[in-house]
Amino acid sequence: MYMNGVLHDIFPKESDIPTEYQLADIHQTEYLINGEIRHWKGPMQEVRSPIFIRTGNGLEQKRLGSYPLMGEKEAMEALRAAVEAYSNGRGKWPAMSVADRIDHVKEFVGRMKKQRQEMVKLLMWEIGKSRHHSETEFDRTIAYINDTIEAVKELDRLSSRFTSEEGVIGQIKRAPLGVVLCMGPYNYPLNETFTTMIPALIMGNPVIFKPPRFGVLVHRPLLEIFRDCFPPGVVNTVYGKGEVVAKPLMTSGGISVLAFIGSSKVAGMLKKLHPQPHRLRSCLGLEAKNPAIILADADLDVAVKECLLGALSFNGQRCTALKMFFVHYKIADEFMERFVTAVSNMKIGMPWEDKVEITPMPEMDRISYLDGLVKDALQKGAQVVNEGGGASCQTLFYPAILAPVNNEMRVYHEEQFGPVIPIAAFADIETPVRYIMESKYGQQASVFGKDPDKIGELIDLLVNQVCRVNINCQCQRGPDNFPFTGRKDSAELTLSVTDALRVFSIRTMVAAKNTDLNKNLFAEITREHKSKFLTTDYLF
Ligand code: G3H
Repeated sequence: MYMNGVLHDIFPKESDIPTEYQLADIHQTEYLINGEIRHWKGPMQEVRSPIFIRTGNGLEQKRLGSYPLMGEKEAMEALRAAVEAYSNGRGKWPAMSVADRIDHVKEFVGRMKKQRQEMVKLLMWEIGKSRHHSETEFDRTIAYINDTIEAVKELDRLSSRFTSEEGVIGQIKRAPLGVVLCMGPYNYPLNETFTTMIPALIMGNPVIFKPPRFGVLVHRPLLEIFRDCFPPGVVNTVYGKGEVVAKPLMTSGGISVLAFIGSSKVAGMLKKLHPQPHRLRSCLGLEAKNPAIILADADLDVAVKECLLGALSFNGQRCTALKMFFVHYKIADEFMERFVTAVSNMKIGMPWEDKVEITPMPEMDRISYLDGLVKDALQKGAQVVNEGGGASCQTLFYPAILAPVNNEMRVYHEEQFGPVIPIAAFADIETPVRYIMESKYGQQASVFGKDPDKIGELIDLLVNQVCRVNINCQCQRGPDNFPFTGRKDSAELTLSVTDALRVFSIRTMVAAKNTDLNKNLFAEITREHKSKFLTTDYLF
């Protein structure tokens, strides 16, 4: 039972914070442009943790430090540095051999690994992510970089041979596109940024990296490593408000690829700013409202466990979280009873505590937004069915299970991105199917059941609505070798270790008529290593 007072006491006193997780104030003035770490003397953005501290004066939000609030001038300097590093594809980085670029990325990841402890701690403090999930985010990012290196080698190996068709011989490879603007989300500030930035870099593009609103300081330990491991201008960082720094970058027309993970509203605005939209490639990861459909014969042990993780893992602040639940009316009561018990057993606490899942959330206005969703549903006939559900204190929100939810309610349609769990009972499968068809979003869905006929039929209905149908399992992005994408307002292009290499490159070929002259020419170029592109070298 969590009433507001109980939630209040979950926040720690300063002396309750374990020594290894204590953090000194970080006043970050550094930013990286053109291979130089510069020091900012202008206005700063104060960084406050979602974690409050109990003091004699009540709860005080923990101050973590500050970072530069850069302006248009600095954003354009970053752009000039990146454009120069690219030099129309003649720059050191885009013109470098794949093998050499791999060596740079290997050096980077080797040094990044050593920052694990510091970066995990910063993730915990900046976005309130539990230690376990913060460690997973870091380790998964390292694994992603290593897998990307292997995937680039494989891609290079596959394209090292010549193709001969209709009297034409050619070698087809992938070449870089130009300057990439990478903007990640605050719920995965490290992982989701790196799943675009690393493939963009390794394919030969320079990047301008703007961290999300929350999750800026976590990247600070990497600034020197970026500077040391890549040629000047290949990695540039800008900090500040999107409308101040991202807007001029897009308006300039100098950005070739927009890699953005965030809201469709902002993505749409940024894309429209580009003066030559046909020159812009956009790779977007956007909102979702993934539903779970629990059929009458579902294994309830499995369904409850997966739905719990799907709804509440990291407070439900995942784009892949389960955000609407349709339960067959015949098992609705039993599901609800078990689900309520499971939610009541979930641990709420500070990120450094073991097995904690519900933690303080970084967006101050998220709590009032969730509150608004709950009030709207209550007014329209739903109830909060778990004790204490919807109670909040500052940044802590105790999960609220809402039922019965219907299409009149905001929570039926809006992406809550937090611990509110809307449940509707259904008799006709057409109800959840229509919901998915009419939704603005189309990322994934989860189906729980055992009957091959019913599941088979549902699979065929859903695969043209969403991009992943999860059977007896929550929705999720991983494994990272699987394609991650969405339809409608949920995504543009597809990410995975291998797909991302395609996103940040374009197929380019060298072709010639199959004559003796040309065959001899190609043979000599490859034998004598006269070209970095036209080569049959095999990357081991
Ligand atoms: O927020 C969206 C993330 O890409 C979700 O990843 O399913 O591994 O938590 P995840």
